Amino acid sequence: MKILVVGTGGRLGAALAREFKEYDVTGFNRAQLDLSDLHDLRTKLRPMVFDVLINAAAFTNVDACETERDRAFLINGEAPGVLAKICNTKDAKLIHFSTDYIFGGEKRTPYTEEDEANPISVYGESKLIGEKNVLAAGDHHLVVRVSWVFGPDRPSFIDAMIKRAQEKEKVDAIGDKFSTPTYTHDIAGMLPQFFDRAFESGIIHFANAGKCSWQEYAQWALDCCRDAGIPLKTTQVGTLTLRNMSNWVARRPVYSVLSTAKYTELSGTAPRAWREAVADYIRRSYSKK
Ligand SMILES: NC(=O)c1ccc[n+]([C@@H]2O[C@H](COP(=O)([O-])OP(=O)(O)OC[C@H]3O[C@@H](n4cnc5c(N)ncnc54)[C@H](OP(=O)(O)O)[C@@H]3O)[C@@H](O)[C@H]2O)c1
Repeated sequence: MKILVVGTGGRLGAALAREFKEYDVTGFNRAQLDLSDLHDLRTKLRPMVFDVLINAAAFTNVDACETERDRAFLINGEAPGVLAKICNTKDAKLIHFSTDYIFGGEKRTPYTEEDEANPISVYGESKLIGEKNVLAAGDHHLVVRVSWVFGPDRPSFIDAMIKRAQEKEKVDAIGDKFSTPTYTHDIAGMLPQFFDRAFESGIIHFANAGKCSWQEYAQWALDCCRDAGIPLKTTQVGTLTLRNMSNWVARRPVYSVLSTAKYTELSGTAPRAWREAVADYIRRSYSKK
């Protein structure tokens, strides 16, 4: 099976390209394939032969999307639709990644695939348009919504918290915003079952199991580091509230936990708990440093 991965310079795309060892994978980073150049996309992909195209590239800077609206809609909204149409000409399946930020955050129980999207940021709006364009292009494509992605290929929130605890006596994180961390290694592990065109199309949610605030997430990361003997200047994470975040440009959903019930029903397996995934990440990526 021939797989193309777009976005291999990023946290998720790099992990997928690295972990899909048993497949014939061709990866593209931004320099090799620029989603903001639709003509270039068509020209470069048209001669290629592939069965599955995975799009892990996106304009992911949530605050920058507010001020660079046109760019956000082009990269996150329009380009995924073009990728889907290119896939149609090859009889290939597009697996496109989306986000919990397409939800508004009003609920207090996990969001299902049937819940109505209500984005409250340009990033969320542009990603929702991307989803719609992909699904409108063909009924065999798949949108995978994930949340709070972490992994070794590009630092994220968890790495920033660990670094801070290694350098400073004080670490704080937001305690009143909730979702679920998701390990790129776990996404890479579950994704191949969806390469089969007949297996599933439409929208699927995937995240590690459970729910936490950023404060709980950071605290658990420091607990794991302490247990692994990784030297830290502090092991306690203080609590901030969303009201403290006056430097944010974009609004963010206060609750965006994704229900993975559909994934579990389809695959017959439940994602592992976020605490277990974080502990595994710290063991693999920090213990040996
Ligand atoms: N990170 C999260 O917490 C999170 C949460 C929910 C959903 N997601 C979704 O998961 C997917 C993967 O995100 P990630 O965490 O891997 O983000 P990431 O590390 O920011 O990776 C995104 C990649 O897209 C590339 N990119 C940006 N503009 C591009 C363009 N015009 N053409 C081609 N490539 C371009 C970036 O290039 P550079 O390397 O040059 O920056 C980067 O390599 C995205 O669809 C994102 O919306 C992420």
